[in-house]
Amino acid sequence: QMDGPLSGWRTLVTSGPTHEPIDPVRYIANRSSGKQGHAIAAALARLGAMVTLVSGPTAQPDPAGVTMVHVETARDMLAACQEALPVDVAVCAAAVADWRVKAMAGQKLKKDGGHLPTLELAENPDILATLSRPGRMRPALVVGFAAETEKVVGHARAKLARKGCDWIVANDVSPSSGTFGGASNTVHLLRGDTLEDWPPLSKEAVAERLAMAIADHLVSPAD
Ligand code: PMT
Repeated sequence: QMDGPLSGWRTLVTSGPTHEPIDPVRYIANRSSGKQGHAIAAALARLGAMVTLVSGPTAQPDPAGVTMVHVETARDMLAACQEALPVDVAVCAAAVADWRVKAMAGQKLKKDGGHLPTLELAENPDILATLSRPGRMRPALVVGFAAETEKVVGHARAKLARKGCDWIVANDVSPSSGTFGGASNTVHLLRGDTLEDWPPLSKEAVAERLAMAIADHLVSPAD
């Protein structure tokens, strides 16, 4: 544990994709690498926070000084997050699969006789919305991400309201942006009605700046 402005504060970060099994050998996933979420966990730890990092499957090394929880599915991720409560701050940077396969096949699906399998989907729980719900266990500050391919800020505003979180970090994830899996990110930080456009930055720099903003807010919440 390092000494810093976040010493004594408890934080939770989600990172990476989730994997939703189709059968024992196949899954549905997305292009999240975990770089952004892991960088946020590392930055919070460097400022002295206690950090639980709940991550889906990624190739990222476990950051120093954080309590790591490795999960696979959205439902596992939600359970791990709830287990980590209470915390003061939650940052949801994971790219959680919105849907899972309704009934995972117990055996490997076989390719046979021109019969194409059909996957029936079911909706996954929304971790950000669940953590944002009013109640005794709600973190004082809940920060979500919005991954958008168009109308980035507009969609992010709607998402902030719908999910009930306090801040949202909106990023452009259209293919030309290279955000998913890439090393840099161009974000807009929405705090209630206040919008800040950040310049293109490395994911580490985005993480650093976000961690500083969180520390400032905890010290003087009115700002
Ligand atoms: O991992 P990298 O390659 O570094 O890429 C980083 C990133 C682009 C994945 C990251 O910066 C990011 O934007 N993460 C959120 C991705 C996402 O799923 O966005 P969304 O707009 O679909 O979801 C909005 C918010 O709800 C997110 O905070 C997400 O974590 C949360 N969510 C979504 C669905 C769900 N079932 N549960 C959730 O908690």
